[in-house]
Amino acid sequence: MYQHHAERRHRLMQQMGEGIAILPTAPEAVRNADSYYPYRADSHFLYLTGFAEPEAVLVLDAGTGKSILFCRDKNIEREVWDGFRHGPDGAREAFGFDEAYSISELDTRLPDLLSGQKSLWWNIGRNPAFDVRVHGWLDNVRQRWRSGEQPPGLYHDLLLALDEMRMLKDDSELQHLRRAGQISALGHLQAMRTTRPGMMEYQVEAEILHTFIRHGARYPSYESIVAGGANACTLHYSANNARLNDGELLLIDAGCELNGYAGDITRTFPVNGKFTAAQRDVYEIVLAAELAGIAAVKPGALWNEPGDAALKVLVQGMLDLKLLGGSVDGVIESGAFRQFYMHGIGHMIGLDVHDVGQRKQAGQWRRYEPGMCTTIEPGLYIRPADNVPSALHNIGIRIEDDVLVTVDGREVYTADVPKQIDEIEILMQGV
Ligand code: GLY
Ligand code: MN
Ligand code: MN
Repeated sequence: MYQHHAERRHRLMQQMGEGIAILPTAPEAVRNADSYYPYRADSHFLYLTGFAEPEAVLVLDAGTGKSILFCRDKNIEREVWDGFRHGPDGAREAFGFDEAYSISELDTRLPDLLSGQKSLWWNIGRNPAFDVRVHGWLDNVRQRWRSGEQPPGLYHDLLLALDEMRMLKDDSELQHLRRAGQISALGHLQAMRTTRPGMMEYQVEAEILHTFIRHGARYPSYESIVAGGANACTLHYSANNARLNDGELLLIDAGCELNGYAGDITRTFPVNGKFTAAQRDVYEIVLAAELAGIAAVKPGALWNEPGDAALKVLVQGMLDLKLLGGSVDGVIESGAFRQFYMHGIGHMIGLDVHDVGQRKQAGQWRRYEPGMCTTIEPGLYIRPADNVPSALHNIGIRIEDDVLVTVDGREVYTADVPKQIDEIEILMQGV
């Protein structure tokens, strides 16, 4: 079951060539008093282990090819209160590590593991408390100089190597991502089916979360945005506590997390199920921009091409709606479009909703490769202003899908929730 994780560890060790890597999982986080946020393991750690318990550290020895886990001990008394723990022996068996030890042995075993290694790879600077412990282990080895021991002399940022690996999703990751996309789409479908004028935004949010959880996705992959009317023009609106009015639009940006993998979908639809003429005009522009952006996602395309394609459509739309004057090129050059479109076209998606990976290499846009997953999410947000016709005031529209780059093009794996105007109206009116 955890074969994929073992294979990733081996690929990483091959890239390292020699030396040792140390990777802690995420700490637990207090919410208030003695209540904790739901625990979420570190994404890099999950990628290499699949092991989701807190208080765990992975050590990889590229010289011997060994994977070593440090984790919490079995503790029958604590397990009565908090639930099952694998313990080192159980984790080694279940997750395929070569060795596993109690996390309480970390400080005594790490200096021995570090001694004599040429290189050390860790998540330098990402976890200050852990950095202090690493320095302590290195110091411990230095103090053994009389017996000829030496600590590693070369340090590498482990996460740079891991980020590159995580950009290209393997088959098991694609299964999780597609399922997260499907369940996220079910949440949006449920929202479209149940939204009525007079409901509160949080009531629609409840329909979405209910759908996620019913399908085994216990948590959303980020805070859901359920934004009626003018609230849609606040990009990260998450209060979700306003009433939904007849005649207004509802923008929903919500996705579930499944087995650690994120979905991220945005749809915008009329609260009463029927677009007004002005809403339709703006919607068609954003939809055309999204389709242009998606069409530009393909292997070999430069990273900026989907964004450029979508931006041209959006700016032509701004001119057609008489929001701005001049030419498409002139508006792009001056940046005047930012009054109505002030974010990027999208981001990689994977274990993190805004997933890892460098967009540029040596200062140049990189190219899309099969196995990369990105969102495409253009929008128009028209706040009242002197240059805005009143019919367009407070219309905020974004449409977002998750797209896998395939060998011969792309796969939009969040397509189960409609985005064409007639499809949305038919769905909402239950015809
Ligand atoms: N929901 C976060 C984003 O779309 O980037
Ligand atoms: Mn997104
Ligand atoms: Mn989103």
